[in-house]
Amino acid sequence: MLRNKPAFLLLFALVFLQSFAACQIGLEEPGEWSTNRRQPPDKVMAAVGVEPGMVIGEVGAGRGRFTVLLAAKVGPTGKIYAEDIDRGSLDHLRERCAKSGLKNVEVIAGEVSDPLFPKASLDMVFMVLTYHHLSEPVALLKNLIPSLKPGATVIVIDPDPEKDRGNPSSEYTSKEKMEREAGEAGFELVRIETFLEKDSIFILRPKGTLDLEGTDTEALDHR
Ligand SMILES: C[S@@+](CC[C@H](N)C(=O)[O-])C[C@H]1O[C@@H](n2cnc3c(N)ncnc32)[C@H](O)[C@@H]1O
Repeated sequence: MLRNKPAFLLLFALVFLQSFAACQIGLEEPGEWSTNRRQPPDKVMAAVGVEPGMVIGEVGAGRGRFTVLLAAKVGPTGKIYAEDIDRGSLDHLRERCAKSGLKNVEVIAGEVSDPLFPKASLDMVFMVLTYHHLSEPVALLKNLIPSLKPGATVIVIDPDPEKDRGNPSSEYTSKEKMEREAGEAGFELVRIETFLEKDSIFILRPKGTLDLEGTDTEALDHR
C-alpha cells in the first residue's frame, strides 16, 4: 500500500478536486458524492436519451440531487417540473435552484398518488430512488399518462435485488414488480438498462404508443 502512496495521493487529490469543483458550481451538495458516483448522471442521462430542450417531470425530487443535473442538461430551452410530497425537501430545492441560478426548474408539491404535472407537457418522467417509497405506485403511474406527450418515456431507477443483496427487501424494485405494476397502470416495460453497479434503469412507455422512430414498443427487445 505504501509503495503506491504517490499514486494513491494523486487519485485522492483528483477525486477531491472533482467533488470540490462540482460543489463550487452548485450542482453537487456535500453528501451526494457517493450516490452520484453510483449512478453516474451523464451515463444515466445518455442511456435514456435526455437532450437539451426537453421538458421532464421528476417524481420524488427530494432535495434536488438529480433535478439540478437534469436542469443543467436540458438547458435554458428545456424545463424540469420537480415534484415531491415532502414540503421541507421542496423548500430546500427552491433555495438550491435560486443559489445555483437555475431558472428552468418549477417545484411542485404533489399528492401521494398524483404528482399534479401539467397535462400533455412532458417528454420524459424520472423517478430516482423513489419508486420503492411509493405507497400507491399503480395509481401514481396511471396519473402520469395525461401529462405525457406522444413518445414520452417514464424512467424508474431503483436498487436491483440481484445486485444489492444486503438491502432490506422493501428498498428495491425487481423486474417482476415493475412489469406487473406498470402493466396494471397501462404501461409496458420496453427496456431495462443494467450497467449501474447497484440499480436497474427501467424504461416504460404507455401501452400501444409509438416511439420516436415510429416503432411499436411491443417490438422492442426486453434485455
Ligand atoms: C430517497 S429520496 C430520493 C430523492 C431523489 N430522487 C434522489 O435520488 O436524491 C425519495 C423521495 O421520494 C419522495 N416520495 C415518497 N413518496 C412519494 C410520493 N408518493 N410522491 C412523490 N414523492 C414521494 C420522498 O419524499 C423522498 O424525497
